[in-house]
Amino acid sequence: MIAVANQKGGVGKTTTSVNIAAALSMHGQRVLVVDLDPQGNASTALATEHRGDVPDVYQVLVDDLPMADIVKQVPDMPNLYCAPATIDLAGAEIELVSLVAREARLRRALAAYEAVEFDYIVIDCPPSLGLLTVNALVAADEVMIPIQCEYYALEGLGQLLRNVDLIRAHLNPTLRLSTIVLTMYDGRTRLASQVAEEVRSHFGDTVLKTVIPRSVRLSEAPSYGQSVMTYDPGSSGAMAYMDAAREIAHRATVS
Ligand SMILES: Nc1ncnc2c1ncn2[C@@H]1O[C@H](COP(=O)(O)OP(=O)(O)OP(=O)(O)O)[C@@H](O)[C@H]1O
Ligand SMILES: [Mg+2]
Repeated sequence: MIAVANQKGGVGKTTTSVNIAAALSMHGQRVLVVDLDPQGNASTALATEHRGDVPDVYQVLVDDLPMADIVKQVPDMPNLYCAPATIDLAGAEIELVSLVAREARLRRALAAYEAVEFDYIVIDCPPSLGLLTVNALVAADEVMIPIQCEYYALEGLGQLLRNVDLIRAHLNPTLRLSTIVLTMYDGRTRLASQVAEEVRSHFGDTVLKTVIPRSVRLSEAPSYGQSVMTYDPGSSGAMAYMDAAREIAHRATVS
């Protein structure tokens, strides 16, 4: 169970969650994407209805609706499933505060859902360190942090890492920072390679060897309700996410 988190907005959390999940599912793994962002971007990208009164993650977290009641199979992707988020989830950040075990609502819901077996559960976090992200970190075994190869990329990372440490100390002792993925890499700029180098010197092997390039196809795919894996499998973005998924799957077998 992997939480894809970074409180910085627009760094590629959703693009990474959706495309790695799609890539793993195309290799025969059963994969569930939990959309934990009220923006519902992952639900959109996976063509999963998330408007109106569609039952969603909000109802699971706040009203104790069983996970099984909201999970949908992704169209044309037989091994891929999505737990959608509607805009209602925006209220959860506040409503959760007064609930019992507010940090562990997602963990509980996923534990009760074990009946259906998934090889991977990928949780797409919102761009904040609030209770939704805390729920993801408490539920997950691993954290994956996408880092955009830009100048401000490392600002705020310390705060995220401190939060991961706090959650490990108090709420989820087995949580580990397993993966950093460099996104939106533009090979033509020195800055991108400098950022990549700096991240690698800090985090070593935690950083995937595969770097995700800037690719227009990656940003187009969601408007067709598709991952880039089906939208344009030969594009540089699709091939990079396929390699990234392979690295992640390989790590899971050796560790
Ligand atoms: N490698 C890439 N090449 C080109 N565009 C990209 C790439 N990765 C992401 N994008 C685009 O950048 C924008 C932000 O990406 P994305 O939505 O994945 O980030 P996010 O971290 O989930 O954002 P938020 O914090 O709002 O949830 C989107 O428009 C997406 O299509
Ligand atoms: Mg997102």
